[in-house]
Amino acid sequence: MKYAYIIDNVQESENVNTIAFSSDDDIKPGQFIMAWVPGINEIPLSFSSINKIKKITVKIYGEASEHVAHLKRGDYLYYSGPYGKPFTIVPGKKLLIGAGTGIAPLIPIIDGNTYGIISGKSKKDIIFENHFKDRLKIVTDDGSCGMKGYVTTALKTVDLDKFDMLYVCGPEIMLKSVFDYIKNINVNAQFSLERSMKCGIGLCDSCSINGYQVCTDGPVFSVDQLKNMDEFGRTKLQYSGKRVYF
Ligand SMILES: Cc1cc2nc3c(=O)[nH]c(=O)nc-3n(C[C@H](O)[C@H](O)[C@H](O)COP(=O)(O)OP(=O)(O)OC[C@H]3O[C@@H](n4cnc5c(N)ncnc54)[C@H](O)[C@@H]3O)c2cc1C
Ligand code: FES
Repeated sequence: MKYAYIIDNVQESENVNTIAFSSDDDIKPGQFIMAWVPGINEIPLSFSSINKIKKITVKIYGEASEHVAHLKRGDYLYYSGPYGKPFTIVPGKKLLIGAGTGIAPLIPIIDGNTYGIISGKSKKDIIFENHFKDRLKIVTDDGSCGMKGYVTTALKTVDLDKFDMLYVCGPEIMLKSVFDYIKNINVNAQFSLERSMKCGIGLCDSCSINGYQVCTDGPVFSVDQLKNMDEFGRTKLQYSGKRVYF
């Protein structure tokens, strides 16, 4: 188990905070840590910055994420990792597609040749739009920010042939809608999957999808890998181990 001093905490929106800490860990975009909240749980969290000053952007769902989101300067973050297969970064034009806090792990990929689509239920779910300058489309379910509609509404306005790689992160339902939109056209894409995780190191099988373990075989998967996973966007294991359908 490692630990780091928190050096900053910035509130991004009503229930999303970014914590910053210094560490020498060599992190690649898309990798994650297991953050340990003593007495509560260990949860997977990705990096929204991978420089010497590392950043993690946390949305509050339950006790563990609430604890991490409220860590303040001088507190410790306990964690293990980094874990998981990162995004493969290609030269050329990149399109980053993130839903809500799903945009956070894509931020380290940004370079001078990057465009973005950020989707959310409403304006309060849109974060990190400033990182893209004018190279960004925003789409919200209720139209309170950007276009009204879903992520595919924005995709339809983009010439995907121009991009060398799409990088996609968000809830699995959103990933599936992007996957279905692009699966029959000739475009390269990588998707970061979120599944229930307990160990983070391939031991417990709680994150499994069609025999793959998202913590070690992923979380990043290619279009070709996903084409062979009939559980993708259809069914997953809950934290309790119970199988549920989306
Ligand atoms: C590889 C990976 C990377 C991740 N990176 C990040 C990250 O960078 N930032 C971040 O905020 N989260 C990230 N997550 C999700 C994060 O791990 C969960 O939100 C966290 O485990 C919730 O723990 P909790 O104890 O606070 O809530 P719990 O007590 O586990 O859950 C409380 C309630 O919220 C629901 N819930 C929990 N998590 C989610 C979710 N992600 N989406 C929708 N409903 C949920 C539960 O079903 C439950 O009803 C990542 C997950 C994975 C697998
Ligand atoms: S979280 Fe245990 S095998 Fe993936």
